[in-house]
Amino acid sequence: MNVIETEQLTKRFGTFTAVDHISFSVGEGEIFGFLGANGAGKTTAMRMLCGLSTPTSGSGKVAGFDIYKETELIKRHIGYMSQKFSLYGDLKVWENIRLYGGIYGLPEKRLKEKTDELLRVLDLEHERNTLVDALPLGWKQKLSFSVAVIHEPRIVFLDEPTGGVDPVTRRQFWELIYQAAQRGITVFVTTHYMDEAEYCNRVSIMVDGKIEALDSPAALKKTFKADNMNDVFRALARNAKRGE
Ligand SMILES: Nc1ncnc2c1ncn2[C@@H]1O[C@H](COP(=O)(O)OP(=O)(O)OP(=O)(O)O)[C@@H](O)[C@H]1O
Ligand SMILES: [Mg+2]
Repeated sequence: MNVIETEQLTKRFGTFTAVDHISFSVGEGEIFGFLGANGAGKTTAMRMLCGLSTPTSGSGKVAGFDIYKETELIKRHIGYMSQKFSLYGDLKVWENIRLYGGIYGLPEKRLKEKTDELLRVLDLEHERNTLVDALPLGWKQKLSFSVAVIHEPRIVFLDEPTGGVDPVTRRQFWELIYQAAQRGITVFVTTHYMDEAEYCNRVSIMVDGKIEALDSPAALKKTFKADNMNDVFRALARNAKRGE
């Protein structure tokens, strides 16, 4: 079953086309990598899927809901970790968890349990009363992710969730992603790191607003006669230039 479907989805800003007729689908439980260089249109596309931005044209459904008409229902069934942090730096760790759990509509008792469980899983119990601003970046990212799935949404959208941290911390972050996927949460994730692309079930690569390739990492490497995803990415960028 597909939890994300788009047909010719397009977003223009004035005369500039940021997302150019993209059509794709994502199956339930998939870890779907959404790749592309800076400015390719990833965040713009993701914001339309999350019901935060109205498309210029084309169609789309997320969790079975229409991205034009049912944005409030979409927001209730997804989690979203934006490229800019959405945690409150001047609130304590536990206060952030409570705040988001409340926004996502968790009842009081469940919120208490969830807060304790989350702090335990993240090994953050000793930082319960620390202001989020004082946490290292990698911990903020893990906390942001955990808060984005606190209500066990059907799909979680992650916009460059691991930017700027070391490989070990990124690896730990991906453990959290796998755990969520195992619980049946579909993961839609953008990244600039090609090693992370290898962890995805399927990957789409966007160039200048268009999806130029979409397949499993293994199949993409075969198609582009590449040893790794970095080379796939480079080959695609070269092809796109030639086609201009
Ligand atoms: N509100 C806006 N108004 C005008 N142009 C915009 C707006 N939002 C995005 N753009 C432009 O659309 C293009 C795609 O931007 P987008 O942020 O979606 O790219 P991205 O793939 O997420 O890049 P990055 O990897 O840097 O996050 C860029 O050229 C950007 O400048
Ligand atoms: Mg972006």
